[in-house]
Formats: sequence, structure tokens, C-alpha cells
Amino acid sequence: MVEIVYWSGTGNTEAMANEIEAVAKAAGADVESVRFEDTNVDDVASKDVILLGCPAMGSEELEDSVVEPFFTDLAPKLKGKKVGLFGSYGWGSGEWMDAWKQRTEDAGATVIGTAIVNETPDNAPECKELGEAAAKA
Ligand SMILES: Cc1cc2nc3c(=O)[nH]c(=O)nc-3n(C[C@H](O)[C@H](O)[C@H](O)COP(=O)(O)O)c2cc1C
Repeated sequence: MVEIVYWSGTGNTEAMANEIEAVAKAAGADVESVRFEDTNVDDVASKDVILLGCPAMGSEELEDSVVEPFFTDLAPKLKGKKVGLFGSYGWGSGEWMDAWKQRTEDAGATVIGTAIVNETPDNAPECKELGEAAAKA
């Protein structure tokens, strides 16, 4: 089971989640996709392959009202998990994703891939790669 959990303010990261889900399903994976707002830390932590999505917000940060507190609670439960990270960005160079990847590795998870897309994905190769990696994980 691949669990996709995402936050999206204007739909770009949501579109990435949809693309990743479609690719992983086409590759034979059982996939569930849910917003951060609609799930909880224990449920997410119970899955073995977890894909987390959040755009660059603040100043190269995770979205701070929902995603940051969620991830802070989830991190201690990620040891040994296979985790993929994705999100859309605007004008930066992907710093938020580098920091997020580092935090995830520091938590003891294996990062199976990261995907960042400038604004709107349009069958982005980055999404295809992460969806395929998740299906294989
Ligand atoms: C409050 C706010 C802060 C943002 N901060 C950054 C940033 O630090 N770096 C960046 O590259 N883009 C930043 N952006 C641009 C978003 O990451 C970009 O528009 C992204 O596509 C939004 O994804 P979403 O549609 O899933 O919400 C910011 C956007 C907003 C609204």
C-alpha cells in the first residue's frame, strides 16, 4: 500500500499527487491519497510506503499551520519507513525540499525519491519517476 498525503493551497501540489497516484496505480500499486487535513499521524505512520507532498511556503519552508506540526509529530515514527517527498514551488531553487529530505533522513527513514515541479505539473517526468519508485518500494 502506497499512502499519499499532501497539502495544496492553489492546486499544483494536488495535481502532482494525482499524477503520482496515476503512475503508481498503472505500475500495479495499491494507492490511497489523502490531504494532511483529513488524516492523522498514527494512521500515516502505520503505512510502509509514504509519499508526502507540500509546496514551498513561507521562506523555503513547509506550510506552517498544518504540514509543519504534522511532520514534526510524524518524524519520530518514520524510522525504517520508505518515504518519498514532493511539492510544487515558485521562484526558489528547491531549498525547502533539500531541508525536508534531510529531516526525513535524520528521522531514520529511507528517502525513495523526491519530486519538485515549478508551479503546475503537466505530466511531469519527476512525478512519473516518484510514482514508479513508490510502486517498486
Ligand atoms: C505564502 C507563500 C509562500 C511561498 N514561498 C515560496 C518560497 O519560499 N519559495 C518558492 O519557490 N515558492 C514559494 N511560493 C510559491 C509556491 O510554492 C507555488 O506557487 C506553488 O506552486 C504552490 O503550490 P500549491 O498550488 O500546491 O499550493 C510561495 C507561495 C505562497 C502563497
